[in-house]
Amino acid sequence: MKIPVIENEIELDELLSQPDAAAIAMIRRLEGDIIILGIGGKMGMTLGRLAVNAIKAAGVKKRVVGVSRFSNPDARAQLDAWGIETISCDLLDRDAVDALPDVANVIFMAGRKFGTGGSEELTWVMNTLVPGNVGMKFKNSRIVVFSTGCVYPLVEVESGGCSELTPVAPTGEYAQSCLGRERVFEYYAKIFKTPVTLFRLNYAIDLRYGVLHDIASQIWHGEPVNNSVGQFNLIWQGDANRRALLCLEHCESPASIMNITGPETVTVSYVAEAFGKIMNKSVNYSGEAGKRCYLNNAAKSFAEFGYPSVSIDEMINAQAQWIMVDNRSLGKPTHFEVNNGKF
Ligand SMILES: NC(=O)c1ccc[n+]([C@@H]2O[C@H](COP(=O)([O-])OP(=O)(O)OC[C@H]3O[C@@H](n4cnc5c(N)ncnc54)[C@H](OP(=O)(O)O)[C@@H]3O)[C@@H](O)[C@H]2O)c1
Repeated sequence: MKIPVIENEIELDELLSQPDAAAIAMIRRLEGDIIILGIGGKMGMTLGRLAVNAIKAAGVKKRVVGVSRFSNPDARAQLDAWGIETISCDLLDRDAVDALPDVANVIFMAGRKFGTGGSEELTWVMNTLVPGNVGMKFKNSRIVVFSTGCVYPLVEVESGGCSELTPVAPTGEYAQSCLGRERVFEYYAKIFKTPVTLFRLNYAIDLRYGVLHDIASQIWHGEPVNNSVGQFNLIWQGDANRRALLCLEHCESPASIMNITGPETVTVSYVAEAFGKIMNKSVNYSGEAGKRCYLNNAAKSFAEFGYPSVSIDEMINAQAQWIMVDNRSLGKPTHFEVNNGKF
């Protein structure tokens, strides 16, 4: 897919929710409805809409149900308008989770990362107790579990990144709690034979947030770019969304693992210099480029689903244009520069 200059959020949301032939064919084969838990966040909204669009394009009848607390009521109204049935529920409340409808296909996206430092117990409860509630309730469904490449160790760039075979070694309590989330779902996958995919994602790129957003806005505002983590991986959020849907057909017992990111190991300096050129701004750095980073080798996903449709240079260009016309930012920095696991 070639992405054009994206003028506004309406165009952006449409692009992030476009099904491709593989997603439409998969939805045609898939039995049962879809429920997305934690839909109200940065990725869930467009993932829900993608599912609705794929169902329409496939010419089949299915419900898409979206569950969140809807701390942002606008999110709920938007989802309703896109044809997603919304249910307000705090997934920490076991009785409320038990009262959710039984649905064959679950995409689990709820989690907690930022603010872990000082409230570690809340992060642990969110990332392990909620999976306990959800895994028990949906033991007869298949479940795609959003996880993170942070469950792997920080590695040097020469390693080529961590594959699904790399032993986990999470750094810091956020990443440890994410491994806890995976282990809870793995347990259910074993004892109840629930088919599960652990979807280990590194950096989805919307234009309202993300690593590219953070670097581009630093350059645009004349701030130094933090270079403490010299390299990273990223993937266009539309591609990540489509892969999450496709993973419904890759759920297994014991749980399968799928690393999800783009093919490049991108350097901060490559991205920063490219933004500087497009924006006609000089680029300054802070921090010493660290040797060890979160790097995810997603070769297995490319073999299963092909390469992502949007290239790094297209993302850089679209992001630069977005920032230069002062389009909306979510104001949620990724803290991609963190290399000690403290979020
Ligand atoms: N975006 C990325 O690049 C990236 C990278 C790696 C991993 N991930 C993981 O992928 C998942 C989705 O990413 P995201 O960026 O969309 O995350 P997000 O913005 O944090 O969205 C998750 C949503 O879950 C909902 N939620 C949280 N606690 C809940 C609770 N107790 N009950 C019900 N809903 C609850 C929240 O919406 P309400 O406030 O409305 O409840 C929240 O907005 C997350 O688990 C994230 O850690 C994302």
